[in-house]
Amino acid sequence: VTALVWVNGRRQRRTERGVSPLDRGFTLGDGVFETLRLYAGAAFRLEAHLRRLARGASVLGLEVPASLGPDIARAVAAATREGVGDAALRVTLTRGIGAPGLAPPAVAHPTLVVAIHSLDAPTPWPERAITARIVSVRRNEHSPLSSCKTLAFTDSVVALAEARAAGAEDAILLDAAGHVSEGSASNVFVVSDDTLVTPPESCGILPGITRAAVLDVAASRGIAIEVRALEPEELLLAREVFLTSTLREITPVVRVDGTRIASGEPGPVTAACAEGFARLRG
Ligand code: PDD
Repeated sequence: VTALVWVNGRRQRRTERGVSPLDRGFTLGDGVFETLRLYAGAAFRLEAHLRRLARGASVLGLEVPASLGPDIARAVAAATREGVGDAALRVTLTRGIGAPGLAPPAVAHPTLVVAIHSLDAPTPWPERAITARIVSVRRNEHSPLSSCKTLAFTDSVVALAEARAAGAEDAILLDAAGHVSEGSASNVFVVSDDTLVTPPESCGILPGITRAAVLDVAASRGIAIEVRALEPEELLLAREVFLTSTLREITPVVRVDGTRIASGEPGPVTAACAEGFARLRG
């Protein structure tokens, strides 16, 4: 894996240096991030990622440095020059160095890290199918932070560990009210009758960029769409279930809690969405 890293606009040739051990991103999870994809050197839906980052930053009361856009452009250009093709680009923005305790410094000096990781060739689509488990960890739909990509991801880490310990490959989390929320790092879709259904933001989800792209694809192909709360039982009874995320694109789920979804094979609506998404990203 190739990793190219910039901290506050400076290229880090040795990634063990660069961010302070007193940085509030590290000590408190006080920051936001975005993961986006470079397909053949071009960032997919960069504007949408920047908007989501800005929204999360404003919820935390963090200012987005004006250098963000140029920093990303410079990193992408360098990655292209250095022959990095398909890659993940991560932007991490923190409140910077802090004193002990929670009170933020009067004047924050944010830390901005841009890191690009080359990615191996993706698993061909049908072989991506996974099993999932509905775990005990819940998303809190009442928290303004559920819809932000903050650095505090330990709920997801523990959720994934719970799913893995039970023999499943990924976790599906419910919200506090017991509705389906999302995957550990993905959004959830089901096909019920002939309708594509995905939970709304009021169910504690991170509004995914891939989710939005899939909704665009479905709309353009005349697939019926409902954005509504889903009962966990609806997952088990669905014709198709799939997850969406920047890193894993469209991932079919063929078992939930040990129950086979329909025939246990990725279904036609999932295939249509994956095909449409592949065209969209070029
Ligand atoms: N995360 N929900 C959560 C909790 C996520 O962490 C992610 C993605 C998504 C899907 O969002 P998007 O389609 O914009 O990637 C939903 C990224 C991939 C990550 O963990 O780095």
